[in-house]
Amino acid sequence: MSALSMERFFGGAPQVHESAPGRVNLLGEHTDYNDGYMLPVATPQRTEVALAASRDGHFNLYSATLDASVRFAPAEAAPPGFASYIEGCIRMVEAEGFSVPPLRVYVSTALPVGAGLSSSAALEVAMLRALRTLLALPFDDVALARMAQRAEIAYAKVNCGIMDQMAASLADTGHMLFIDARTLSYQLCEIPTDSEMIVVDSGVPRSLAASKYNERRAECDEAARRLGVPTLRDVADPDSVEALPAPLRQRARHVVRENARVLEAVGGVGARRFGELMNESHASLRDDYEVSIPALDYLTDYLRVQPDVYGARLTGAGFCGACVALCRKGAAARAGAAALARFNAGGMQGSLLIPVLSHSEDNNE
Ligand code: GLA
Repeated sequence: MSALSMERFFGGAPQVHESAPGRVNLLGEHTDYNDGYMLPVATPQRTEVALAASRDGHFNLYSATLDASVRFAPAEAAPPGFASYIEGCIRMVEAEGFSVPPLRVYVSTALPVGAGLSSSAALEVAMLRALRTLLALPFDDVALARMAQRAEIAYAKVNCGIMDQMAASLADTGHMLFIDARTLSYQLCEIPTDSEMIVVDSGVPRSLAASKYNERRAECDEAARRLGVPTLRDVADPDSVEALPAPLRQRARHVVRENARVLEAVGGVGARRFGELMNESHASLRDDYEVSIPALDYLTDYLRVQPDVYGARLTGAGFCGACVALCRKGAAARAGAAALARFNAGGMQGSLLIPVLSHSEDNNE
């Protein structure tokens, strides 16, 4: 069965049509909920949301990606699935004191779901952008990201940090977005000269990710409490974490050093050093933070040994999903194909997610 077109769903053109990207994080993993720093890039794939008034007093949602329809009354809760993200955004707007009329909502995405590129943040930010345009709401892009995060926590029941929603709201595909999770200040930075990125999916499905994510958050809070600081971002002496008992010592070490890596990278290092920082980040996520799995270790190894690859790491929360590699300009496609051939020869189902994510000069966004 083929999906409904937007025109058929609305019986003409929608009133508004907005979109938002997913994200690939280059550096700064598991730092956002520790008030730290990160450096994501937007994906070229985007999620689209179109809206028009509904004439039957209900919210009528349609996902062209899933070919699924959902209908609910304004006073009802939406069923689980893509509709809960949409409802979460509506409720966040209402919580700010604005009323949202019943709507027809059309959703489609080019983002793979569950591959670690934050398709959920893309959906939330696209929906909030569409509501902002339709209702002329006075929210800036940071406010939008915060509302999207609250929607994710309250309605999708994922206790996430702010990185994904900030990236979906503020990043582009030609720059790295430096984010300070405490102040929510941000800056677009140049990708290292003469480099490009490739993003490869391990094909490993989600498993322990949610429970381990919450466990890591709790460990970080406990480590900060024992160190007598509000968050791990506030650790002034990196050596102080060494006095903590295991595994808090390793968790805190990762966060403190990962923050330092992001700050070094935004200081303007070349591609070679940036790649080293990515390799160090992966080792730290594997050994100290313990969120990698053998498949992600193999995949990053196979990427790293390719000619003209500066560095590679898992991207996102870990336990499944994708890896990103920084490559010499022009080398990414070959490196990705060679690494994937080796990975899949071992019986894995890896695939290319983003063939080449590149420098701003050749980006038309
Ligand atoms: C997930 C969360 C983010 C962030 C990353 C890890 O993507 O949604 O807030 O914590 O994991 O860096």
